[in-house]
Amino acid sequence: MSFDEKKGMYFPSEDIINQSNVKEYEKLYKYSIENREQFWAEQAEHLDWFKKWDKVVDESDKPFYKWFQGGKINIVQNAVDRHLTTANRNKLAIIWEGENGDIRTYSYHALNREISKFANILKSMGVKKGDIVTIYMPQIPEQVFAMLACAKIGAVHSVVYGGFSHEALSERIKDAESRVVITADGGFRRGKIADLKAIVNQAVELSPTVEVVITVKRTGHEVYMENDRDYWYHDLENLPIASPICETEETDANDMLFLLYTSGSTGKPKGMMHNHGGYSVYTATTNRMVFDIKPEDRYWCAADPGWITGHSYLVYSPLINGATIFMYEGAPNHPYPNRWWRMIEKYGINILYTSPTAIRGLMRYGDSWVKRHDLSSLRLLGSVGEPINPEAWKWYYKVVGNEKCPIMDTWWQTETGGFMICPLPVIPLKPGSASKPFFGNEIAVVDDNHNDVKPNEEGTLVIKNIWPGLSAGIYKDRQKFIDTYWKKFEKEGWYHPGDSAKIDEDGYIWVIGRSDDVIKVSGYRLGTAEIESALVSHPMVVEAAAIPLPHKLKGNAIHVFAILKEGATPSRELENELKDHVAKVMGPIAKPEEIIFSDSLPKTRSGKIMRRVLKARAQGLDEGDLSTMEE
Ligand code: WTA
Repeated sequence: MSFDEKKGMYFPSEDIINQSNVKEYEKLYKYSIENREQFWAEQAEHLDWFKKWDKVVDESDKPFYKWFQGGKINIVQNAVDRHLTTANRNKLAIIWEGENGDIRTYSYHALNREISKFANILKSMGVKKGDIVTIYMPQIPEQVFAMLACAKIGAVHSVVYGGFSHEALSERIKDAESRVVITADGGFRRGKIADLKAIVNQAVELSPTVEVVITVKRTGHEVYMENDRDYWYHDLENLPIASPICETEETDANDMLFLLYTSGSTGKPKGMMHNHGGYSVYTATTNRMVFDIKPEDRYWCAADPGWITGHSYLVYSPLINGATIFMYEGAPNHPYPNRWWRMIEKYGINILYTSPTAIRGLMRYGDSWVKRHDLSSLRLLGSVGEPINPEAWKWYYKVVGNEKCPIMDTWWQTETGGFMICPLPVIPLKPGSASKPFFGNEIAVVDDNHNDVKPNEEGTLVIKNIWPGLSAGIYKDRQKFIDTYWKKFEKEGWYHPGDSAKIDEDGYIWVIGRSDDVIKVSGYRLGTAEIESALVSHPMVVEAAAIPLPHKLKGNAIHVFAILKEGATPSRELENELKDHVAKVMGPIAKPEEIIFSDSLPKTRSGKIMRRVLKARAQGLDEGDLSTMEE
């Protein structure tokens, strides 16, 4: 790579260009826009289909688009089965390291056996095509087996992040009406045991649909198991039902693959649905082109499979592309801040994909922890989840990547399935910009009249086209999908992601952040409404408003304005109690940074809290247009 000071851009070396899966952006971009369906049909040809599609996209039920309509495909056929008949069969599919130093590896052959066993166990528990299985696990290989086992038999997985509270978990189990839950006794995090089974036990008490809980033994600590409901995975695995041979279901391209709950602007988390066909094509294509993945690569996506990044770019797309994936269970700084760098060196990782929060977190320990390791295997770096500040970008580039690795800053969402705005290894990079629309995408930044803003002016990010990774909708709530993403630009038919952004004179897109009631903390997505209702569930609080304020490490931190009940007095103790209460109700990631006791909240005449006014006030900025504020 080389740096052009005048332009502020980093240019790829000959080497990078020569080895890249895609050598050129502009021409292919133009082709993909002018021949969108053709482009996606060509990409779909990279995958195995039981039966090819009749129609590339069926638009008869907008905005519920059906990609590769009439096609028959299973993502597991592509991620695993098809590798079994090639030389890939004997290469490693998964390398896993536990926080306590345990190591496990699986070839594609072994992975297939594990998935098949798991799939047969699920079948024996009565799981059928279309049933939704909830998975609540630490980052262990069985988490991946469980996801792929569901997909293999045409069941749907709903993975809930292992950091969520029992209340959040049960809310998701109930919405999905899961009969079967898969978990583990616990996981290791910072040397301690996270007691997942205890949380599942509490959640299941509140979830009447659950009949079966399958528990994988990881930590070996004592856990409560209920007769006729709880089964140890290692017991089931030794029964004749757990045959390592299982046929992969021939699912329709538009059969549901998974549900993933994500926060939005209303209180209840939304179950975003993704289907086998379009999702496979979109994630595999973006992973191949942007991360330039090759079958001989060792690839590490450091996200938890409990989030969309883990689904799309830890589990599914790298396996479809036949790479070796690396997974790590625990904290990045355990036992020392060189844990990640040691593992990259040890396993010879070629591609690292992580979040700005993780980068900033490791950066604060200084360069020497990184420098003592040989990271020369790294070829490419990735970032996701929140805007990356140029300082963190440069550190990642210089210290981790040794000025050799392009950084793919990828902007996308749970709803989009895969990368929407991102560079390619062959285009010049600007630190802090996610760069350009991915192939097939027309992305703009518009003002309140829906016209393009001038270069470098802030506006609303919109996506003007449809793409195969687009979510199939919100589970059991058609209208909410329409209202949330398509109402604002109904006339134009554009997708509204809820972010604000700028575009510079070179057409590089700079995403600023959420412009709706979603807060990104350390890249985790939380809804203000969920945080507020958690606070109001405390007996001392009558009303609350949550806002994000910039935070050096986390990107944003949650600050809450709370109105207390008559007679309650603000105190340091109460502030701490309320913070802990939110962490208990939602999970530790939602713990507020600060609680500000207040007598009133600024509201519109129709009674909506004006969070932007609170935010401006807290930062000492201009409060903007106050004409809609009530007296
Ligand atoms: C934010 C995560 C800036 C954005 C894959 C988006 C980003 C939300 C970036 C989706 C990035 C994600 N630069 N902001 N590279 N990537 N975001 O659903 O606000 O957890 O709307 O998906 O994350 O969060 P989600």
